[in-house]
Amino acid sequence: MTNELRDSFPFFKENPDTIYLDSASTSQKLKSALDRLYHFYSSECSNIGRSSYNLASKAQSATEDVRKKTAEYLGCKEDEIIFTKSATESSNLVCGSFLAHFLDEKSNVVTTVLEHDSSFLPLKMASKAKKAGIRMVMTDSNGGISVDEFEKRIDKNTKAAVFTCASNISSTRIDYSALTRICKRKGVISVLDATQLLPHERIDVKKLGCDFLYFSAHKMYSTSGCGVLYAKSKHIKAMRPHIYGGGTIESVSPLKLLRGPGKFEAGSPDVGSILALGQAIDFFTRNRELIESTEKELRQRLFSGFEKISDKVNVIGDMSSSIPLVSFTCSKISSYDLAAYLAVHKICVRSGEMCAHIFFDKTSNSPCVRVSLGVYNTREEIDAFFDELNNAFTYFKL
Ligand code: ALA
Repeated sequence: MTNELRDSFPFFKENPDTIYLDSASTSQKLKSALDRLYHFYSSECSNIGRSSYNLASKAQSATEDVRKKTAEYLGCKEDEIIFTKSATESSNLVCGSFLAHFLDEKSNVVTTVLEHDSSFLPLKMASKAKKAGIRMVMTDSNGGISVDEFEKRIDKNTKAAVFTCASNISSTRIDYSALTRICKRKGVISVLDATQLLPHERIDVKKLGCDFLYFSAHKMYSTSGCGVLYAKSKHIKAMRPHIYGGGTIESVSPLKLLRGPGKFEAGSPDVGSILALGQAIDFFTRNRELIESTEKELRQRLFSGFEKISDKVNVIGDMSSSIPLVSFTCSKISSYDLAAYLAVHKICVRSGEMCAHIFFDKTSNSPCVRVSLGVYNTREEIDAFFDELNNAFTYFKL
């Protein structure tokens, strides 16, 4: 399979023998994103929002261009985009600056057992501080989130629901649009973790009607150090920062905060990573159709490969997701041993609890091995993975 998109990622030229199947953890990086980062630090380096000399003004306006581009990509207004350092910081910001202020001991929040620690833990801490309840939606028999069960968990005291758009463990599709509609109908604030979905499927937040949505740049083929939080304008106005510092105020006495997203962006921002994200968004916009067709083919090959070995492995989920990810266990081989075996053969997969501990706490699943693809993978790499997995079965005498 010739993958036209692969050449945009220098990693593969540098590591021709490595098969990288861990994109849900972090993706490989676009050359354009790396070039932008390098160019910023080598030729344009300056801080933003603080100085009026030419370099600083240029960096400032380039940063604001990325805010605009991100907003266009998500279908919202640019002053609804907050730059953070990660999806984790975005989630902490929603929970610490927003949810924590209106939860009380009579209220509850709804969430799902498929949440990443970065969504679940900030929610747990905000709920705990206010003695609010957490109502958990368990997975259904397909390993997904039943829309009916979700609706049933919401009662008259539910203030917010926090849920992922695509799990980083289960390969069952999550109907995040239906869940968001339920929240809207019931007057419940919806907080969506799009970290795993957005590298594979575009989301229009206005059409969707969610209140908050976050993701990280490093899973979108860009660099680490930049996350995004979308928040509806009315929430941006209502929210107080939970980190204070330079660049967030109009005056210090009396304290007058900036009105827009800037009040949440305290301290010197990671300008280079924000500019790199702009390149990743261009890549998605420019190559949308090719990305979709490439991923469809890769996903089908991955899913059908797992169907062929269904007597040997237990897959988590029903493989209906639009993201190319499969987690599995093998009753007679430890997941850590399997991943180590594959690693010796230069195949990079993740093993363990995938920073989604609540799932393993609340279900009978054991730590698993996870294979997750990016747009740059090839059919041959997927086949090589299955060949090596079969060799592992022989090696471990399965
Ligand atoms: N969230 C990342 C993963 O699922 C780190 O691997």
